[in-house]
Amino acid sequence: METHLNSSQQSTATYTTGAVKETAPATTEAIEEHTMKVNPSRNLNLEAGIKINIQHVNFFYSARQVLFDVSLPVREHQVTALIGPSGCGKSTFLRTLNRMNDLIPGTRTEGEASFDDENIYDSSTDVVLLRQRIGMVFQRPNPFPKSIFDNVAYGLQVQGKSKKVIEETVEQSLRGAAIWDEVKDRLKASALGLSGGQQQRLCIARALAVRPDVLLMDEPCSALDPIATLKIEELITALAKEYTIIIVTHNMQQAARVSQYTGFFLSGKLIEYAPTVDIFKHPKKKETEDYISGRFG
Ligand SMILES: Nc1ncnc2c1ncn2[C@@H]1O[C@H](COP(=O)(O)OP(=O)(O)OP(=O)(O)O)[C@@H](O)[C@H]1O
Ligand SMILES: [Mg+2]
Repeated sequence: METHLNSSQQSTATYTTGAVKETAPATTEAIEEHTMKVNPSRNLNLEAGIKINIQHVNFFYSARQVLFDVSLPVREHQVTALIGPSGCGKSTFLRTLNRMNDLIPGTRTEGEASFDDENIYDSSTDVVLLRQRIGMVFQRPNPFPKSIFDNVAYGLQVQGKSKKVIEETVEQSLRGAAIWDEVKDRLKASALGLSGGQQQRLCIARALAVRPDVLLMDEPCSALDPIATLKIEELITALAKEYTIIIVTHNMQQAARVSQYTGFFLSGKLIEYAPTVDIFKHPKKKETEDYISGRFG
């Protein structure tokens, strides 16, 4: 479900979790209180170091070029939002950061991208390690058809960690993803019995378990109701203290609520990148202004 939280919205969110039905009012007050709590401009750090530096990236699906000369510095411990109309290349761009596009046959990336001091596109880069350090959360929560515990433990089991380390890390990760209290008594139950919002936080816990530095989130709230969305947004704000986060979103208010920096894409080009307050209050490019004011897209 798309969630557009305008200030006049009064709705009731209902979602079903197996046998349990949860109902929560998404009142204007709740949303305002949440926005006060999140207050992203308070966390803006103009001096933040560059965690990932993308320079002059072009990307091709076979002969078709879909990203054109994109350069963008991803700031450490800041939330960067990527916005733009459908098909403009946001997801493709996100996948160039941890080489997930390598999994699609016939694709080609040109340009440079560094992660700390590493060259992301170097042929000697260990992509498995890269994807652990730059983790990803998808649009639809995609838990494995396994228990809640096993979902989070999976990456650690693959790494051959001890039972004790796995148990400790699973708990830490579930706490880090703000879902521990909801699942601690049913760790052996199937993850598929959780609500959509819980499943998404479980997937965040799964990504956190392998200790990433960066989290890529591709429209992580688009399948969620307003209350679950607020929870994920609060979580993103909390996680940014320890992680660097890049979030793709179609929801302009969400970008304004959670991010400190925003990049606006149009037809495969990065039109404008700046602190979120500037993008929304004083966009420099006409295309950006048209998009954020809803004139197209
Ligand atoms: N696997 C693929 N093979 C070929 N073309 C693709 C593939 N994935 C995406 N594309 C094309 O690349 C362009 C960018 O797609 P992308 O999914 O990155 O856009 P997006 O901005 O994430 O869109 P949305 O907001 O709808 O998710 C589109 O024209 C799309 O059709
Ligand atoms: Mg996309």
